[in-house]
Amino acid sequence: MVATRESEMPMSDSIIHLVDVTKVYDIADQPMRAIDNVSLEIGRGEFISVMGPSGSGKTTLLNLISGLDDPSSGEVIIEGRTLATLPDRARASLRLKSLGFVFQNFNLIPSLTVHENVSWPLEFSGCKRSEVRDRTADALRRVGVLGREHRYPAELSGGEQQRVAIARAIATQPSILLADEPTGNLDSLTGRSILDLVRELNQANRVTVVMVTHNIWAATYGDRTIELRDGKVVRDVRSPPTGRSIAAAAPDK
Ligand SMILES: Nc1ncnc2c1ncn2[C@@H]1O[C@H](COP(=O)(O)OP(=O)(O)O)[C@@H](O)[C@H]1O
Ligand SMILES: [Mg+2]
Repeated sequence: MVATRESEMPMSDSIIHLVDVTKVYDIADQPMRAIDNVSLEIGRGEFISVMGPSGSGKTTLLNLISGLDDPSSGEVIIEGRTLATLPDRARASLRLKSLGFVFQNFNLIPSLTVHENVSWPLEFSGCKRSEVRDRTADALRRVGVLGREHRYPAELSGGEQQRVAIARAIATQPSILLADEPTGNLDSLTGRSILDLVRELNQANRVTVVMVTHNIWAATYGDRTIELRDGKVVRDVRSPPTGRSIAAAAPDK
């Protein structure tokens, strides 16, 4: 370790902290840096848009933050806990309780009803039956799909499926919502309503959002835009408080 801990203390309300994180994949026996020495601090309640061309490392970055993937070097610290030093059970518990996931293709379980899709993570995390029922109903109400609890995913529109997926993600009351191109399979009007919903959850509950998007317009929903290229952060800018347009680029470091 070259850097001293003190010089890299996270800001007091930092919820996600990456320190010199590199992820190397071997492709055809050639090492390839999917994430290349990224240091990043994300404050509690921030709404981050992650942009960049296909293959730039966006999904890898989310997988490192969620602990689904381990960095080749560097540290990922979530809510003050260094993932690499957590025992498996503690890491699984952190994933289940602190993180919510939303995907481009919704990832609902086709053979489960809407209600069951939202309630199983609660059951899995050991909630009492009454709590499962109340939290599921609350999450479905918040995303606006109450009344469709007994339908199956195939009986819903794409926008409704994504709302159910968001209900599943927030039912466990996570502090961090990770979304990988959540509007990628939706028409622009439906996509906009999903982004409005994510923004509302971010503002009402102070859920920290890290959202990957290809769409410059979708990125304007966030407070801050991070752009990746070849696994490196090439841009990290905050939106002006009065508007959602992208401000002038900040220095790299
Ligand atoms: N599990 C993996 N094994 C090998 N290479 C991978 C794996 N996951 C991602 N990569 C490579 O890492 C790079 C970044 O991928 P990814 O994070 O999926 O990019 P993005 O989400 O920005 O499209 C790509 O070159 C991809 O081929
Ligand atoms: Mg991706």
